[in-house]
Amino acid sequence: MQKLLVIIGLTLSTQLYSAVQVIPDGLTYDDVLLVPQRSTVNSRKQVCTRTKFSRNIELVIPIVSSNMDTVTGSSMAIAMAELGGIGIIHRFNTIAEQVAEVQRVKRHRHTRIRNPLTISAHASVTQARDLMQNHGINGLLVIDDQHLLVGIITSRDIRFKSHDSLLVKDYMTARNQLVVGDANITIEQAQELLTAHRIEKLPLINPDGTIAGLITSKDIWAAIEYPLASLDSQGRLLVGAAIGVKDDTLQRAGALVEAGADVLVLDIAHGHSEIAIDMIRRVKSAFPHIDLVAGNVATAQGTYELIQAGADAIKVGVGPGSICTTRIVTGSGYPQLSAIVNCTQEADKYGIPVIADGGIRFSGDITKAIAAGASTVMLGSLLAGTDESPGMPLIKNGKRYKVVRGMASFGANLARNGKSNARNNADFVPEGIEGLTPYKGSVVECIYQLLGGLHSGMSYCGVTTIEQLRGNGIFIKITSSGVRESHAHDVEQIG
Ligand code: XMP
Repeated sequence: MQKLLVIIGLTLSTQLYSAVQVIPDGLTYDDVLLVPQRSTVNSRKQVCTRTKFSRNIELVIPIVSSNMDTVTGSSMAIAMAELGGIGIIHRFNTIAEQVAEVQRVKRHRHTRIRNPLTISAHASVTQARDLMQNHGINGLLVIDDQHLLVGIITSRDIRFKSHDSLLVKDYMTARNQLVVGDANITIEQAQELLTAHRIEKLPLINPDGTIAGLITSKDIWAAIEYPLASLDSQGRLLVGAAIGVKDDTLQRAGALVEAGADVLVLDIAHGHSEIAIDMIRRVKSAFPHIDLVAGNVATAQGTYELIQAGADAIKVGVGPGSICTTRIVTGSGYPQLSAIVNCTQEADKYGIPVIADGGIRFSGDITKAIAAGASTVMLGSLLAGTDESPGMPLIKNGKRYKVVRGMASFGANLARNGKSNARNNADFVPEGIEGLTPYKGSVVECIYQLLGGLHSGMSYCGVTTIEQLRGNGIFIKITSSGVRESHAHDVEQIG
């Protein structure tokens, strides 16, 4: 007689099992604590959180903002990179919209801008204003027909001027009044010139009068204010961009690479699928020089197959997210801490880092994720309540919130397909929800708190680097009483 068929972590086949299979334990963050170890850490400065994000990208902090449309647009990506992490621009928009978001991040900060935006002296002030607004900047270099620098125009020069007949040449600061630097000027020399002349922008020119670049006081100040920023070789902020497995994915990937994305993230709910594996191969063969993160998976076999297809980092997490209902709707998933252990044990064989995606609720969960083997964590709802997220702000019963939604929620599907596509909306089976998350102010404060917890957590584990912590945590399994004891209890909380 056929006995109970229970298969977890085994390949499904048509074979009939004659015995009950052993069901392994699956643990998640709340099921464990890290056992305190002897510490040599006397101050936060002794702790280094530098880590690997993907095969070729390192970060100063192990935090990544999720590619959800209520979490990461350009503002979040800029803030994350300035703080030493990275943001992944979501893909639930047109190619042109996603490209514009990537460009905003790449233009936000430079050591020196190699190709500053220019406008013809004969263009109208309306065109100048549109160009500045579209690129989120407040000044343009003005050129003549031979591409020689003839002036600078800023938004202040044309603030109250909007007639099409008004020309840039009549409102710009002309070349003879400009302070300029030569192409080889150092940043220190540029800073001296900017300070001495109390100016914001220093155009760099070649001996023939053509433009060699631009250095701004804003960029120099940003380097001082955010010394840990994640930067590319040109001093621009790092940014990632998500792609899916649609017909236009290669076109999207090409446009994103062209726009300067530093890493692509192939993100589908069930990453251990032929369609994802095939797309990894195609993207890697079209763009071999750019790192490709792939996911999401929860098993060693899934990790292995994505790495064999060419993935440069593995995103782990099937159903742990705050807004996920995949496990409830499909019955499939894997408790996140065990998934991280499974996947990192495989990925470590190839030197490929793992990103623990979803389910992080407290700073202590970040320490646990890394202690289980992850190199970075990806955060959704924890960041969705901040000023920098694109989520809609709301006030309910006098309290401020922001909207956060799963990318497989009904609302997200409606936004993608439009209300008119009734057929598609009716057929849609959501695997995520829409919700509210308390408003938190600036993401800077939020990350500061999370990092403070991680630093302290590393000290409790007796380590000073992420590599020492990674995969080396000594865990103890706890009960529901242990969870209750871990949280504040038996007092009425006032703050
Ligand atoms: P947290 O817990 O940080 O999780 O908010 C964010 C991660 O959740 C995943 N995600 C989803 N998973 N249905 C799902 O099952 C969804 O609609 C959905 N939307 C996002 C995603 O991996 C994200 O980074």
